[in-house]
Amino acid sequence: MKQPELLYEGKAKQLFRTEDDDVVLMHYKDTATAFNNIKKATIAGKGVLNNKISAIIFGCLNEAGVPTHYIRRLNDRDQLCRRVEIIPLEIIVRNIVAGSLAKRLGLEEGFKPSNTIYDICYKSDALGDPLINDHHAVALGVVTYDELKQIYSMTARINEVLKSLFDRINITLVDFKIEFGRTSDGRIVLADEISPDTCRLWDKTTKERLDRDRFRRDMGRVREAYEVILDRLEALKK
Ligand code: TMP
Repeated sequence: MKQPELLYEGKAKQLFRTEDDDVVLMHYKDTATAFNNIKKATIAGKGVLNNKISAIIFGCLNEAGVPTHYIRRLNDRDQLCRRVEIIPLEIIVRNIVAGSLAKRLGLEEGFKPSNTIYDICYKSDALGDPLINDHHAVALGVVTYDELKQIYSMTARINEVLKSLFDRINITLVDFKIEFGRTSDGRIVLADEISPDTCRLWDKTTKERLDRDRFRRDMGRVREAYEVILDRLEALKK
């Protein structure tokens, strides 16, 4: 059989062409990275866990009427998605202060602000994905103000759906990063993945961190934490 053409290779995933020009195969790898690729490791089985977790989450978002690139999961490591052109922005949503925001503002991790905080980073390896604002994004020519308005409105809805999903499995959705893309017919849809690699997820009872901070901060038991998230999400379906 002919080897499918690799369209893109990222830190944690590969994208392959399919027979349908509008559909790509997304393959999840076991690579873990942090601090703009300075720290790297392989966590056996992480790709399988993230593929399954992200598939469940995107399935929920599709059901809730959020436009996403996700079509269906094929097997342990692969899923089919609509082909999109990624908008080079990382949209970060923060329900609780943690990570870089705690450092930047001198606030304690775990502080709950009265508002939801949105950050944007410009996806550029050369620049180290700098934090930017709406005006910078428009000046860079990567979105219009109207598109940003649409992105923020979709993001607020995604946050509502995800908060209530994680509530049901006794997890606080502290913060998360999402990316959007444009389909061939020009629609903006949620793309990439949503998993413990891209979210901060704290157990509501024990406050245990069940996300990539375990890798970033050398806390150990990374795979086990991701397994807890998948087990709880799968239990919801039963
Ligand atoms: P931060 O505290 O490092 O700014 O991260 C905020 C949230 O966004 C956290 O859940 C991790 C996620 N994130 C990514 O998934 N990829 C990134 O490149 C960045 C900067 C954050």
